[in-house]
Amino acid sequence: MAILKIAKMGHPVLLQRAAEIEDPTAPAVHALIGDMFETMADADGLGLAAPQVHVPQRLVIFHVPGDDGEIDEPRVLINPVITPLSQDMVLGWEGCLSVPGLRGKVPRYPRIRYTGVDPRGRPVDVTAEGMHARVVQHECDHLDGRLYPTRMADLTDLIFESEWRYHFKPDDPDDDEDNDLD
Ligand code: NI
Repeated sequence: MAILKIAKMGHPVLLQRAAEIEDPTAPAVHALIGDMFETMADADGLGLAAPQVHVPQRLVIFHVPGDDGEIDEPRVLINPVITPLSQDMVLGWEGCLSVPGLRGKVPRYPRIRYTGVDPRGRPVDVTAEGMHARVVQHECDHLDGRLYPTRMADLTDLIFESEWRYHFKPDDPDDDEDNDLD
């Protein structure tokens, strides 16, 4: 496995539509997944999309943060499709490993269904809400060449992470989390 270089905002790979993966069981795909997990852990991210490591294919990995702040097992989603299960959107803070040093308040659907396949080619069909839904929407946006600032309605809410920590970070003494969303 290897730690891969993360593309930053401005790199064209982050602006293109990623290609479907024809064979999720291919050794090259599994090798990429391994490298992406190593890269995500090294960067303290909650999720990572393949285009962020310069591979324009429809593959994302992520952790699902629980209500108790614990993070559950990692998930892999290939060729994902998202269906919103609500009309309204809610604002929440996001960060992105491709947009280092910044945080923004981004509108997302609070409840979604997502489908796709896992690395063994088995179908995935999940209903998600809250942070889980937000992470998946953020990651899947990367597959369509979207970065979170382009989803923001009010750029007043695009701020430096250092200021976010000081003014907006939830005040939780047990919170040693230092995660960018991806
Ligand atoms: Ni991101």
